[in-house]
Amino acid sequence: MVYVTRKTHFNAAHRLHNPNKSDEWNQKTFGDCNHVNWHGHNYVLEVTVAGEPDVDTGYVIDLGRLKKIIQDNVISKCDHRNLNLDVDFLKDINPTSENLVKAFYNELKNDIEKACVEGGKLVSVKLFETERNIAEYRVSI
Ligand code: NI
Repeated sequence: MVYVTRKTHFNAAHRLHNPNKSDEWNQKTFGDCNHVNWHGHNYVLEVTVAGEPDVDTGYVIDLGRLKKIIQDNVISKCDHRNLNLDVDFLKDINPTSENLVKAFYNELKNDIEKACVEGGKLVSVKLFETERNIAEYRVSI
């Protein structure tokens, strides 16, 4: 099995907030990340596809096609946006890194698996919120 990864970047603002809880709970739980006027991150996104390379092309997925799917489905909607307010597929989602990787996976899966080698699979969506804080949504082969 070969794993192919495309790495991309985007910048976005967000606020961690659970509207079902009190302001006090949110402040205590999320601290500075709950600040009412938002804050930003330079996100790094890694998307990994696994499969047996195609006999004719030698590819698991054409990286140009992977780049375009990530751009169209995630980056163009999130880059320089407010993740709480501006992104249709994140509506009503508290934009923690954990929730973001699950949402990105759902946005990417169908198009990537149509574009990759037969039997290939989107296996990981990994988001670096900072160099040290990372969340990954991973599925088994
Ligand atoms: Ni944050």
